[in-house]
Amino acid sequence: MSVRNQGIVPIRVEQDVVLARQAVRKLAQECGLRLVDQTKLITAASELARNAVIYGGGGDMDWQILDEEGRSGLRLTFRDEGPGIGDIRQAMTDGWSSGTGLGLGLSGAKRLVSEFELDSAPGKGTRVSIARWT
Ligand SMILES: Nc1ncnc2c1ncn2[C@@H]1O[C@H](COP(=O)(O)OP(=O)(O)O)[C@@H](O)[C@H]1O
Ligand SMILES: [Mg+2]
Repeated sequence: MSVRNQGIVPIRVEQDVVLARQAVRKLAQECGLRLVDQTKLITAASELARNAVIYGGGGDMDWQILDEEGRSGLRLTFRDEGPGIGDIRQAMTDGWSSGTGLGLGLSGAKRLVSEFELDSAPGKGTRVSIARWT
């Protein structure tokens, strides 16, 4: 597997969620993802970017366009140094929110992508990595 291209998009404030969304759309096209897969990745990315702003106090989205024999992929990693998640199973439960959200961001994002990795602990921040392949 090789990295064709990579970069970082800062996600500090609410408006950055829109910019991240636009960046993901462009990258997903560049990567050659089908329209339906582009839309899934963009939707998942919006949720994770919003979480990074709302719960994580802001963070970054690392992106990588990957090439493998016969396919290409876009991997997005959302990182923040916020309070972290104490109970990951609870956070991943459909409909559970510690705030006023619908509680469908993490669980929904997981369903929309082919790779989902959540790494978080209290005091250690949160890292969520997602990917879709052609
Ligand atoms: N980046 C994050 N940092 C800390 N907690 C988070 C983060 N992302 C999600 N969470 C926790 O996981 C819960 C579920 O997230 P989510 O499924 O997106 O639902 P919602 O955003 O509607 O609350 C949040 O309510 C929050 O407690
Ligand atoms: Mg959310």
